Amino acid sequence: MKLKSVTDARWLPHALAHFDEVLIDHAHCEKKAAANALSLLQAHPEVPGLPAQMARLAREEASHLAKVLQLMEGRGLTLGRDGGDPYAKGLQQLVRHGAKERRLDRLLIAGIIEARSFERLLLLAEGLDDPSLKRLYAELAKSEYGHQKLFVQLAKAVEAEEVVERRLDELLAEEAKLVERLPLRAAVH
Ligand SMILES: [Fe+2]
Ligand SMILES: [Fe+2]
Repeated sequence: MKLKSVTDARWLPHALAHFDEVLIDHAHCEKKAAANALSLLQAHPEVPGLPAQMARLAREEASHLAKVLQLMEGRGLTLGRDGGDPYAKGLQQLVRHGAKERRLDRLLIAGIIEARSFERLLLLAEGLDDPSLKRLYAELAKSEYGHQKLFVQLAKAVEAEEVVERRLDELLAEEAKLVERLPLRAAVH
C-alpha cells in the first residue's frame, strides 16, 4: 500500500534529539502489535490463513519488543506504563460497526499502522549514526514492510478485491489527515 502523505521533515531531527523517549514508545508499539495479532486471532479465526499468520506475527513482534527492551536496558531505560498512542486511537475510531465492516477495518488499520511504522523506522535507520542501531532499525523496518502486505492479503481473503481497495483508499486518506492533525511527538507515530 502507498501512504497518502510523507512524514513531516521536522519529525526525524526531533526523534533523534529525544531518541530515548522514542525507544520507550517504540517498545510499547511492538508490545501492542504483538497483542493485536493475538486479539485478531481470538476475534477472527475464520479468516483463511489468519490463525497461523497471526501466531507467527505475534512471535515476531514479541521478538522486536525483546530487542528494543534490550537496547533500553543498555541505556538504563525502563519501560513504565503505556502513555497511550493518539495515532492508534485516532485510527481505531474509524472502525465501523457491523461484523464484516469491523473485521475489514481492523485488518486494514493494522496494515496502515505497519506501513507508517515502516516509513518512520526507515527514517530512523537513515538518520541514526550508530552502525548497530542503524542496522537494527533497517532490519525492523523491513519486517514491518512485510507485515503491511500480510494484512492486505488477509483482507482480500475475505472480501472482494475492489471492496478492500476502496476501503483502504478511504482509510489511507483519513490516516493522512490524522497525521497532519497530530502534534509532532518524540514517538514512532
Ligand atoms: Fe514490529
Ligand atoms: Fe509489525
